[in-house]
Amino acid sequence: MSVLPRTLLPDSAEVGPEGQLLVGGCDLASLAEEYGTPLFVYDEAQLRARCREAVRAFGDGVAYATKAFLCRAMARLAHEEGMHLDVASGGELAVALGAGVPATRIVLHGNNKSDDELRRARQAGVGRIVVDSFDELDRLERLHDEDGIVAKVLLRITPGVEAHTHEFVMTGQDDSKFGFGLKVGDAHRAAERARTSPAVELVGLHAHIGSQVFVAGFYEQAIEALAPIVNELALPELSIGGGIGVAYVEGEEAPSLTEWGDVVRRACERAGITAAVSAEPGRAIAAAAGITLYRVGTIKDVPGIRRFVACDGGFVDNPRPALYGSGYETFLPRAVEADRTEVVRLVGKHCESGDVLVPEAKVPPGLVVGDLIATPVTGAYGRSMGSNYNLLPRPAVVFVADGQARLVVRRETDDDLLATDVG
Ligand code: LLP
Repeated sequence: MSVLPRTLLPDSAEVGPEGQLLVGGCDLASLAEEYGTPLFVYDEAQLRARCREAVRAFGDGVAYATKAFLCRAMARLAHEEGMHLDVASGGELAVALGAGVPATRIVLHGNNKSDDELRRARQAGVGRIVVDSFDELDRLERLHDEDGIVAKVLLRITPGVEAHTHEFVMTGQDDSKFGFGLKVGDAHRAAERARTSPAVELVGLHAHIGSQVFVAGFYEQAIEALAPIVNELALPELSIGGGIGVAYVEGEEAPSLTEWGDVVRRACERAGITAAVSAEPGRAIAAAAGITLYRVGTIKDVPGIRRFVACDGGFVDNPRPALYGSGYETFLPRAVEADRTEVVRLVGKHCESGDVLVPEAKVPPGLVVGDLIATPVTGAYGRSMGSNYNLLPRPAVVFVADGQARLVVRRETDDDLLATDVG
């Protein structure tokens, strides 16, 4: 038997009388009819519940990492539920501010922030800037000479911890483009400099060891590595970054936000850290609340080899399989509890053989052209990392709750694709 595990579906998932899936009280097939496909569907109550859980686990100061998924509705939702917002570019900053999130609730990140990004963030009055390099300190001082604004900053420290995850998303190791290395003494030099700089007010330290980290123990290692400098500098704040993993496929297990918070708090207590400890989860807030719906357009059998099922999206709306070899499950919204006895390759509509969404996708028998097919746990780093390759319009996003669907990002049109083309 290979029925899609219920745990991979959004919290509000229910099975209707004909075996069809409802999320937030909405029938997925009707959503696909109304809004078209590909379509990102988010369980709004689940997004809200995860934000509240993060606030309970870490207290005020915990930030939603908007790179996972951002639009104004999401920024507003995270803010309403008590989270701060972590932005990593001028664009993310613009959307967060455009959503009405107060600048003081925004944290600016980035290993190569431009003068313009730093200027805009400081002038808007962002709550924290996480300083990543000596060049950034130079830039902040130059900008301070221009306008006299003093920014509250954390220093991003590279603790020299290798969290076991995909190497592309490991960030805590010494050989990293991010942050001030602890072992080489840069962290101490940066703290010295920040403390004496007129351009910044140093309020704390920050570390982010990586993403899709399944073992909370890596955070204990990071905290042990950071404890001497945290305690020596006696700064009021420490952010442990984001990165706690989520289950994408059958058999995977990840700590909850609550469990992660407990591990971090206990490790800080053991290490004698008295700073207020916060974090920046992205994936753990957004991933499992989202589902992508696709329409099957072409089925091709290669005798003795495999069946290709081509849908109307592809690696433009979910580049994670192509980039990291990430796994996803598949199911048919019309028969969510059906036994998935056939294995097919779910591909997109792009001009590359690497355009594979699920190499070994389990589906029930009887899949036909015109069917809806869905991938769960696509709420993080799908749409946000998507592209317009082959000039496919980016999909729409709907939030569902209490039987109501609300369009929060409309599908792009050909006019959108031409809007920036001034030739
Ligand atoms: N804080 C910082 C400084 C980060 O760089 C990140 C993610 C986060 C927080 C949030 O991490 P999360 O809780 O979402 O794991 N595209 C990759 C993930 C890249 C993560 C980049 N930084 C993926 O799809 O797996």
